[in-house]
Parts: sequence; C-alpha cells; structure tokens
Amino acid sequence: MTKPVVLISEEEIQTRVAELAAQISEDYADKGDIVLVGVLKGSFIFLADLSRRLDIPRTIEFIAVSSYANGSKSTGAVRLVMDVRGNIAKKHVLIVEDIVDTGHTLKYLIGMLESHLPASVRTCALVRKAESAEVDVDVDYIGFDIGDEWVVGYGLDYAEQNRTLPYIGVITPDDRDS
Ligand code: PRP
Repeated sequence: MTKPVVLISEEEIQTRVAELAAQISEDYADKGDIVLVGVLKGSFIFLADLSRRLDIPRTIEFIAVSSYANGSKSTGAVRLVMDVRGNIAKKHVLIVEDIVDTGHTLKYLIGMLESHLPASVRTCALVRKAESAEVDVDVDYIGFDIGDEWVVGYGLDYAEQNRTLPYIGVITPDDRDS
C-alpha cells in the first residue's frame, strides 16, 4: 500500500480538536459530569485527545458495534458487540465517533443509548461524509466535512491498516485493491 495522501494535517486536527473541546466545555459548563462514549475501534485516538482537552468533569465509556457489510459497502444493519459498562441513567452522554458516513451507526447508537434513560444524548464526530448520508441524524459537534473519499489515520483504518497515522489521509482505489 502506498503512503496515504494528506487530507487533514496533524496540526489542523489538533487545532480543531482544541476548538471542539472548548465549545463542549462551554456548553456543558453547568451540567455536572458528562459521559463520553467512544465508539470502538475508530474513535480511540480522537477520544483520547478530545477528553484530555476538556475542562469539565467527565468520565469515559466505550461501546462497540459491528456493521453488516457487503465488501466495503454497509448494508445499514448494525449489531451491538459491547455495551457501556457504567450506569448512564440520568447522565449527560456525548457519543464520540471518528467518522459518520451513511449515518446508520450513529442513528442506531442514539436509540440504543437513549434506552438507558440518560439525561441527554448528543453526538460528536471528527469527520463527516455529508454526501454519503442515507439517514437523517444530528451531529452536534463536527470536526470536518469531507467528500466521499476513503480516509485513514487518526483512528480510521482500511483493513486495520494506518489507524495510528497522526494525520487523516486518502487512499486510492488502487491501494484498496492491492
Ligand atoms: C466506522 C466508524 C463508524 C461507522 C460509520 O466504523 O467508526 O462507527 O463506520 O459508518 P456509517 O455512518 O456508514 O454507519 P467501522 O465499521 O469502520 O469500524 P471501526 O471503527 O472498528 O474501524
């Protein structure tokens, strides 16, 4: 696989993550603890950086889902692999995603987490592929809107490769097939 082409640099990501953290800290300033729910695996780096930049009380949970896919195309059906461990009833929940593509995963997660009867559920995604949306889902905090490209790095993978790149890069169809 050739080196991904930089789409969003490390510096741009870090600047935007700091801005998102400042906005979230302001919005939740008088709400007590918030629970950040990271969606495995892709959100692990974004969640680590975002959570450390917040200046409000927060706890961390993880959730894992799996999409039923035909090749690289999602069918829209989502399966829960691992639920949150702590009790989130009456808590303010912020779902932290690396990417929103069709929107099926986030829509499923909002409904699933609402069944735990939290005080609120909001959503944050570092990257959104706005043109790829198949369902209407609110993303309250968005890092970057991008086109319909296959992106890797900063938690995002292609076939488990390139998750730990410090930047977000694009891979070409040739790279995917090789
Ligand atoms: C990615 C991403 C979201 C989901 C978004 O996860 O982390 O959870 O896809 O896609 P959607 O909007 O079309 O539902 P992926 O299935 O690649 O798993 P991973 O996070 O473990 O890499």
